Amino acid sequence: MELPEELPQLYKRHIFACSTQRPPMHPKGSCGANGALPLWEHLGNRIEALGLGAEVGFTASGCLGFCTTGPLLVIYPEGVWYRPKTTEDIDRIITSHLQQEELAEDLVVVLSR
Ligand code: FES
Repeated sequence: MELPEELPQLYKRHIFACSTQRPPMHPKGSCGANGALPLWEHLGNRIEALGLGAEVGFTASGCLGFCTTGPLLVIYPEGVWYRPKTTEDIDRIITSHLQQEELAEDLVVVLSR
């Protein structure tokens, strides 16, 4: 089978949001235990309400590997990691990153192991 020279990009951006839920006292922690799920629900609702679904993919992902840092999401193709704590933080990520193409700098998290 012959592959196209350039694979089509389905979305302009794709968000992966960690939705792993471990028990509250689990030693690894988890984004779910840190309050991620209501934030991701808000994010999905706002993407839909704003009509961004054709250009912004949104996928609830498994563990992204930085469990005590969460709630974490990562936006590609930039590979920018965010740690929102409130629905207002989610709204700022949408406005700044997705609509104005500027970082919501105070919500960016630089990860290290
Ligand atoms: S549980 Fe979210 S990064 Fe591991």
